[in-house]
Amino acid sequence: MSGTDTLFQAVKLDKLELKNRIVMAPMTRTMSPGNVPNDLNVEYYRRRAEGGVGLIVTEGTFVGHVAASGYPNVPAFFGEDALAGWKRVVNAVHDAGGKIAPQLWHVGAVRRPGVMPGGDTPGHSPSGMAFPGKVTGHAMTQQDIDDVVAAFAQAAKDAKDIGFDAIELHGAHGYLIDQFFWDGTNQREDAYGGDLEARSRFAIEILQAVRAAVGEDFPIIFRFSQWKQQNYAARLCETPEELGAFVNRLSDAGVDIFHCSSRRFWEPEFEGSDLNLAGWTRKLTGKPAITVGSVGLNADFLPEDGTANFKAAEPASIDNLLERTEREEFDLVAVGRALIANPDWANQVQAGKLADLAAYEKDMLKKLY
Ligand code: FNR
Repeated sequence: MSGTDTLFQAVKLDKLELKNRIVMAPMTRTMSPGNVPNDLNVEYYRRRAEGGVGLIVTEGTFVGHVAASGYPNVPAFFGEDALAGWKRVVNAVHDAGGKIAPQLWHVGAVRRPGVMPGGDTPGHSPSGMAFPGKVTGHAMTQQDIDDVVAAFAQAAKDAKDIGFDAIELHGAHGYLIDQFFWDGTNQREDAYGGDLEARSRFAIEILQAVRAAVGEDFPIIFRFSQWKQQNYAARLCETPEELGAFVNRLSDAGVDIFHCSSRRFWEPEFEGSDLNLAGWTRKLTGKPAITVGSVGLNADFLPEDGTANFKAAEPASIDNLLERTEREEFDLVAVGRALIANPDWANQVQAGKLADLAAYEKDMLKKLY
């Protein structure tokens, strides 16, 4: 292999075949008025598939639970109109030779009353906390937990029925599933709280219900992160042993592919090895892993001061990425902002035209192109 060939090899995973290793990272765009994917959304995803992306993971799309949505104009993943809109997205991506998975999302305590749909419903979360120690919403009852588990399973089944190639569960960044994982926001004293094994019970119930709904052969991708939007320095696992126990429980419950969210893919996860989070997860589970975080860019997507203004970033070398890919540290590589700036990023990189790539600027988020 030479140059970028290794990125553009076809990959055959257990349940998913892809034309290359490039994944579009899930990115919320809030451009679906009425929570229904429209023509602009269809063309936006079609452009990335035409631009050479092997697997698109859609923006977070919220499941059918009254408190699942957290921001205006995010596409829903339930109801006839939204699912019909998603079917058009799927068809467009398939027509362009790509594959696609919806990122199924529940925002948990990040929700504020008033966001539609959901009206006055407060945020639902393990202990009513979006931030450690601050109760601002509703602590979920067993009935709430059962309802949310069922909503994820229904969404997964709908995804399969309308032709998606896989689903991704959003278990990262301090949203609902991660609010259960994180001891900062999970202070429950029942079977869903306690050590990390108990705090994983909610995710495991979702995985088992989703698996039962989609059958054995349909790929389930699980996204998780150490960092939280509430605290970039937060960690669920301090050692490879802790990470191994955590990811293997999820793996046993049905995960086929791990999407390991970090802000800078080149950072070692633990001292004494330069493996990143995806590298460790792959090594510890034997399952395929997706890496992500500032691929092809010189700055990460969240500023240190915590203001989510998604600062600008210039194109940067991908040599380190290529070396790690060749070493098989991970299987797939997710690209976020560089694909907002360059819908044809994959084709350009494959053609060796790195010098022609556009920088990412946060104003690019104002329109869907
Ligand atoms: C994101 N990210 C994100 N992550 C996620 O799991 N679900 C989501 O809906 C979103 N939404 C979102 C919107 C925008 C505008 C940005 C920039 C990012 C995080 C994203 O998937 C990715 O992990 C980061 O952007 C890091 O990758 P890049 O941009 O450095 O390649």
